[in-house]
Amino acid sequence: MTSRLRWVITSILACTMAGWASSEGVCANDRQPEPGVPLHTILEFETTARLLAILLDSGRNVINEDLVLLDERERAEKDFTVDLFERQLVDVFRSRSGIDLLDLEAARIPNRAKKLLKELVVVSKQVVAEAQPEINRRGGSTKEFIPAIFGARVGIRFTERTHVRLKQTALAPRNPLNAPDAVERAALTAFADSSYPLEKVISEVTAKSRSLRLMFPLYTTRKCLDCHGDPKGELDRTGYPREGFQLGQNAGAISVVIQIRP
Ligand code: HEC
Repeated sequence: MTSRLRWVITSILACTMAGWASSEGVCANDRQPEPGVPLHTILEFETTARLLAILLDSGRNVINEDLVLLDERERAEKDFTVDLFERQLVDVFRSRSGIDLLDLEAARIPNRAKKLLKELVVVSKQVVAEAQPEINRRGGSTKEFIPAIFGARVGIRFTERTHVRLKQTALAPRNPLNAPDAVERAALTAFADSSYPLEKVISEVTAKSRSLRLMFPLYTTRKCLDCHGDPKGELDRTGYPREGFQLGQNAGAISVVIQIRP
């Protein structure tokens, strides 16, 4: 452990975005120099990791708002095509990050981020395209195309293609594959405290493995509560006991791991 030289940086969304766009010094006051990894490089990777987490969460939210809990009749009327998904993804991501996925070249973000965001859009669309039979199946089922299933499929494929790890996790995960490791557990415990600032990510650079890890908190919207809300312990429509979360409460996180290569 002693050789495991690492330090923790925390920052709020607006801070790093502003820091990247204007002067990197803006948010760096609480950061310490890391031997061998220039601060400039760390900021680039942190911005990239944060934008990937926002994009994955945007996709999850499009699925959540559009597909979850529509009854058969509504679903028959609503054709959830890949084009519709992409349009909504672009809108949600723009409103959350200020970045236009359709004009990434103009965005003032690292080139690495542009490349990976493009890749994540491609993978997200593939996953929605392949899920068309599930989406259009009538009659409901416990194996629905819900945000967590979308997120898991996208995460696996994105990691295969880019070697950047994207994972959804929670302190008491429904799916054991989403169980947190020690770093993720520490961040999730911080997020679970009701006094923890909204949307404040936790990131960390591990010098030994030369990787940046970022934890991006997820919060419940009204639709999430149909499965994750009250009454606590009662089974939801997917067959899992409800967690009893309240509106706007932290419900887990997206975990990103990127290898740092200057
Ligand atoms: C239709 C029910 C349903 C809705 C709506 C829903 N979830 Fe889930 N959620 C699940 C199920 C089922 C799983 C486990 C999926 C699996 O088997 O991997 C899950 C998994 C998760 C996980 C991964 C950790 C774990 O428990 O395995 C997170 C985080 C999560 N949900 C958050 C949310 C948030 C936030 C929303 C709203 C944006 C939401 N969910 C909407 C049913 C739902």
